[in-house]
Amino acid sequence: MEPRILCSRFLRHESDPGDQLAVVLLNWTLPTIAAELLQRAVVRLCADGGANRLFDELPAMLPGETPDAVRERCLPTAILGDLDSVRPEVLAFYQQRGVPIVDLSADQDTMDLQKSIAYVVAHAAQHQLALDRVTIVALGALGGRLDHTLVSLSTLHTHRDLNLILIGDGNLARLVPAGRSLIRPLREVEGPTCGLVPTAGPAITSTRGLRYNMDRTEMRYGGLVSSSNAIEADEIEVEVDVDIVWTTQLQIHPPIILAGVKAAAAVPPAASLTNSRALRRAMISAHRTAQMMAQAQRRPHAARPLPRRHRHRPVRCAAAAADNLQAAAAATGTEALFKPLKIGDVTLEHRVVMAPLTRCRAIGGVPPPMTVEYYSQRTTRGGLIISEATCVSDTALGYPCTPTLFQPEALEAWRPVVQGIHDKGGIFFMQLWHCGRASHPDYQPDGKLPMAPSALRIEGDYKVVSPKDFQQYDYQVPRAMDKQEIKEVVQSFKQAARNAMAVGADGVEIHGASGYLINQFLNQLSNQRGDEYGGSIENRARFALEVVEAVCEGAGSAGRVAIRFSPFGHYLMTPDPQTYSLYTYLLTELNKCGLSYIHLVEPRSDDMPLSALSNVSGSRPDSLAPFRQVFGGPIVVAGGHTGATAAQAVQADCADAVAFGRYFISTPDLARRIALGAPHNKYDRSTFYGQGPEGYIDYPFLEDTPEGRTYLAQA
Ligand SMILES: Cc1cc2nc3c(=O)[nH]c(=O)nc-3n(C[C@H](O)[C@H](O)[C@H](O)COP(=O)(O)O)c2cc1C
Repeated sequence: MEPRILCSRFLRHESDPGDQLAVVLLNWTLPTIAAELLQRAVVRLCADGGANRLFDELPAMLPGETPDAVRERCLPTAILGDLDSVRPEVLAFYQQRGVPIVDLSADQDTMDLQKSIAYVVAHAAQHQLALDRVTIVALGALGGRLDHTLVSLSTLHTHRDLNLILIGDGNLARLVPAGRSLIRPLREVEGPTCGLVPTAGPAITSTRGLRYNMDRTEMRYGGLVSSSNAIEADEIEVEVDVDIVWTTQLQIHPPIILAGVKAAAAVPPAASLTNSRALRRAMISAHRTAQMMAQAQRRPHAARPLPRRHRHRPVRCAAAAADNLQAAAAATGTEALFKPLKIGDVTLEHRVVMAPLTRCRAIGGVPPPMTVEYYSQRTTRGGLIISEATCVSDTALGYPCTPTLFQPEALEAWRPVVQGIHDKGGIFFMQLWHCGRASHPDYQPDGKLPMAPSALRIEGDYKVVSPKDFQQYDYQVPRAMDKQEIKEVVQSFKQAARNAMAVGADGVEIHGASGYLINQFLNQLSNQRGDEYGGSIENRARFALEVVEAVCEGAGSAGRVAIRFSPFGHYLMTPDPQTYSLYTYLLTELNKCGLSYIHLVEPRSDDMPLSALSNVSGSRPDSLAPFRQVFGGPIVVAGGHTGATAAQAVQADCADAVAFGRYFISTPDLARRIALGAPHNKYDRSTFYGQGPEGYIDYPFLEDTPEGRTYLAQA
């Protein structure tokens, strides 16, 4: 008998014309892929509270249109179930637009998913669905309550003749029927982790194409279950005597290119990314470049990184008494980092700072609940944490799933994050961001062109990822802001600062670096305005200084405001030809403000990965050293530092504190490890951006690994 082919074509933008898609929305946070699937679906069923999700979350994923326009365009085919969770105003909205509301509260024996599938089957003819061609995707069917998840898995068995796919919480599950099947995962997004689960009792199973294959092996509950397996081929062959369930990890985004990730330069133009093989090649090539960079940066004496364990970690605080850190640091020569530092209105107990790190996990701009754990894990008493960049207004966005500081839901979600940091004695500054021209009309209100100082597009191979289909596109020529818009953006920075303080933050850091709006005004290559915001250095600095003034008002005190610059940054633009004069002027002006600190990104290149500042003689061509002479307040530096170079920079008075980026992603207890001289975890670039807890809250603390425990025992 011919094998069954099980593939995930429905995930692809360009699935076959004959394919049909039905989407069932359950009452659980929509994954980002929902926007794409819902727009393609022939049938969209909302199971009870799933209608609230469609109503609330889909518009947030498509910020270029008004919420009601999105809702009108994606009306549900029907809303069904007990109808005890759907909100009355949501029901009324859809009812007024003729959406059938099906009250199934009399049926207490089946769950919403089962009712929804039954509805699809019963109404297939009405919607011209061919049941042998349709893929039914249940969003929110995995994750959340365990009993619901188990019923969802049971539904796969009940409807074994349908092509039913369960998605939720970064996972995908489908039935593998008894017999021989060829599973063809879409490897850009599915895997590498996968599993085969004998949900219907003992299963004699043989496989090919997995890391751990089986050869007529019996799987059963209470015995072997194939979990934490990995996809190693484009086609997985499975032969089994009863139905089993196949699960894969689902990484819904293509790779996203953000500041600070040089590997992105290796990604070829979007035109060649329209087929999946090219996309995979691009990912591999970016990955290789990343590996090469990592190798280039490794020093002979560098600590050997610990292997990473892909498991959830219990919430744990990296806090250790500052006294203990100081004592440990004295023994490892890093004591300069473990002395207190006053930065404006707050005092740090040590100088190992968590750099701002965008992680693209905030669907619809709202940080997910796991963000509380992420920041809490990295908190130390008196340690400064700078948040990932947060968008100040609806014109500020330019990357998928980045958090905002203007939506009420986002502000509510930030409160517990701040609380979690404060509970452990940490200090939290929120980074304020406007992408300017580094955006796309799909992010902008009414689909307008992004704003910039001048109508000059980003040069080079950079791509923007649309929030609508997660495909990469060329940056477009932006529109030059008029003076009214400049005023409005300055005001939105001020309001965002107010909002940050309202949710409990200790301060704010203005993002003036990495080629975003403020940097675009500063740089003469992106600012060719003829008015008082362009031309001379004084004019180009005007916007930044106006933002600083407004943000100081919004935050209530200059001592709670900082700003970040990258005078030598090559991301999204080449540095201003007058960079020394430009930043000397800026810092001289900022001296008058009494800011908390200035954050400067080190000059770095592949052949000069370490700090130019740490080169105390100052003989290297590009150096932050001249700015130290100009600015009288605290300076935080970031870029390519190790504990040793950071301590050296502070010891030599080249900087007051050092921010760490990538190592803070991989090493929640980084400050303590620096003090102890303990090795850091290796970071995994593939999970820097994207959904899910993996690579976010599952990096181990020192005592979580055998190597770490051995290290501690010997220390
Ligand atoms: C995943 C990732 C996300 C980043 N996001 C931001 C950001 O939101 N804002 C910002 O100013 N810099 C951002 N950066 C730059 C870092 O703050 C930092 O300057 C950079 O990683 C260099 O420091 P490192 O060598 O210690 O990693 C990001 C870097 C990475 C790797």
